[in-house]
Amino acid sequence: MLTGKAKIAGVIGCPVGHSLSPKLHNYWLQEHGIDGAYIPLEVKPEDIGEVIAALPKMGVQGVNITVPHKEAVMAFMDEIAPEARRIGAVNTVVVHDGRLIGMNTDGEGFVQNLTANKPAHWDIAAGKAVVLGAGGAAKAVIAALQACKVEVVLTNRTRAKAEDTAAHLGGGALTVIDWDKREAALREANLLVNATSLGMSGQPALELALDALPVTALVTDIVYKPLETSLLAAARTRGNPVVDGLGMLLYQAVPGFEHWFGVRPVVTDKLRDYILNLSFR
Ligand code: ATR
Repeated sequence: MLTGKAKIAGVIGCPVGHSLSPKLHNYWLQEHGIDGAYIPLEVKPEDIGEVIAALPKMGVQGVNITVPHKEAVMAFMDEIAPEARRIGAVNTVVVHDGRLIGMNTDGEGFVQNLTANKPAHWDIAAGKAVVLGAGGAAKAVIAALQACKVEVVLTNRTRAKAEDTAAHLGGGALTVIDWDKREAALREANLLVNATSLGMSGQPALELALDALPVTALVTDIVYKPLETSLLAAARTRGNPVVDGLGMLLYQAVPGFEHWFGVRPVVTDKLRDYILNLSFR
């Protein structure tokens, strides 16, 4: 039940109808009996500045930002957290004392998902990570891996974009290799991340023979529709540990919820099942 004192947050995107965030945040609101709501807000690119500037005036707690606004909103923030500046995108906005603070929690979500679901003996720092893709999601993944002091080998169909990403994220050990060398690079991997859109329902398949990959390497995919991508299925079949991408979505939402509603929510199997049942039926 909402009262006149309800705390309001939401997600801004265009389109926004596919977003799982309202289901996720409203689950936690209900679980904690919080007087609050989390709503989808479809905002066109030409209106984003006006809408963002209005948030403090409307008394909302903050918002998530999704496609296509993650880069554009940066110009309207009063303050940008270091990881968001590094990645070059904001996915979480907190209104604090009338000021807009831009954060990026995607990298944290990525690492938390691995930490929660990895086998006990697997250590993120034990070797190199091979990252496929150089888009926004890949940047968040790479920045998070660099923060964990992991050496990254980056490969992308468009090499120039990988070079740009590497230049932008300079500071950690990061090597760019050609897309057609990606299979050979697997030999050195302790972690393999698909951060491209390949393998997503409706997108082309990811073509990648895993023969060179050590069987101890952990394989993860940022794609979570389907939950078990053909990459994860192939890795599982040959005995590699795998972590699916749904957890990244769940864990990236934790810091925003805590800032807006004052409670740190927990990612449970029950929540995961709830989201799976709603969206994958
Ligand atoms: P996001 O912000 O979600 O990461 P994006 O910026 O559009 O999305 O990035 C999509 C990624 O998938 C890119 O790395 C893209 O490679 P390019 O930079 O060469 O476009 C990759 N990708 C998409 N379709 C691909 C395909 N058919 N083959 C190889 N890579 C592909």
